[in-house]
Amino acid sequence: MSFALEGVGLVHPNGQRALEGVTLAARPGERIAFIGPSGAGKTTLLRILGAALRPSEGRVTLLDQAPWQADARRLRALRARIGTVHQQPPIAPRLRAVTAVLSGRLGQWSTLRALGSLLRPGDLQGAHAALAQVGIEDRLFERCDRLSGGQFQRVAVARVLYQRPDLLLADEPVSALDPTLADTTLRALAAQSEATGATLCASLHAVDLALRWFPRVVGLQGGRVLFDLPAAEVTPERLSGLYAAEGGLRAADEDTAVMPMATAFIPSGCR
Ligand SMILES: Nc1ncnc2c1ncn2[C@@H]1O[C@H](COP(=O)(O)OP(=O)(O)OP(=O)(O)O)[C@@H](O)[C@H]1O
Ligand SMILES: [Mg+2]
Repeated sequence: MSFALEGVGLVHPNGQRALEGVTLAARPGERIAFIGPSGAGKTTLLRILGAALRPSEGRVTLLDQAPWQADARRLRALRARIGTVHQQPPIAPRLRAVTAVLSGRLGQWSTLRALGSLLRPGDLQGAHAALAQVGIEDRLFERCDRLSGGQFQRVAVARVLYQRPDLLLADEPVSALDPTLADTTLRALAAQSEATGATLCASLHAVDLALRWFPRVVGLQGGRVLFDLPAAEVTPERLSGLYAAEGGLRAADEDTAVMPMATAFIPSGCR
């Protein structure tokens, strides 16, 4: 198994519950999209899968290891095998794109090599190839704070492609991209998963992209798994149910109920 969660729940320190009773497992090479309304728990779930957040309840196994029973050295080694594209990339703004990409492998390198790479970028070819996969190889030496939001987001994706993790997590990886670039970028992530056998989990607000690029789709609502289905079985009704709960938009007459959030994202072919 690439990961297994059993009855996982998470309550934030302020008492806010973000996840409850989540049981989910994935085989190596699977591609899974997490969809659901804002606040459903997608980021929280991805952070648990990244061993960045320890759940309040339940059992977590990542890449056949129990992260929260491991000592610090093993936990560090495990985290180096997991790559995350964050919703807000934690990349220092003054870093050049090349250094940001190369930092994807910092966790796999010795301290000396890691420090050296910050002073003088080593694997230019590797960084160039990763940036080329998302179409911004011409920005190799640009400072990240001089990139557009979408270019910066693609540097974050290139960083994780360069890392080549066994478990690839992406939190809204294409939210700042136009439809063509969003497609290119998801294709690059899917291709890497296919080439390396890495499991790919991504949260997405654009349901059409989730259905196109991910054979398995998990719908989260209020911190719980509402459905876990092959993409072909995610019907417009299920999507309305998933997004309708937000703001209590459900109208008295179900047939005429219009769910702006949901319908906006349902591919026209499905409506
Ligand atoms: N650091 C935090 N402290 C307290 N509550 C939090 C914290 N982070 C998230 N939450 C709460 O946990 C719940 C789940 O949040 P999460 O960020 O996982 O949602 P999400 O599905 O990723 O939403 P979005 O689509 O807006 O990114 C929300 O109710 C949120 O308010
Ligand atoms: Mg989120």
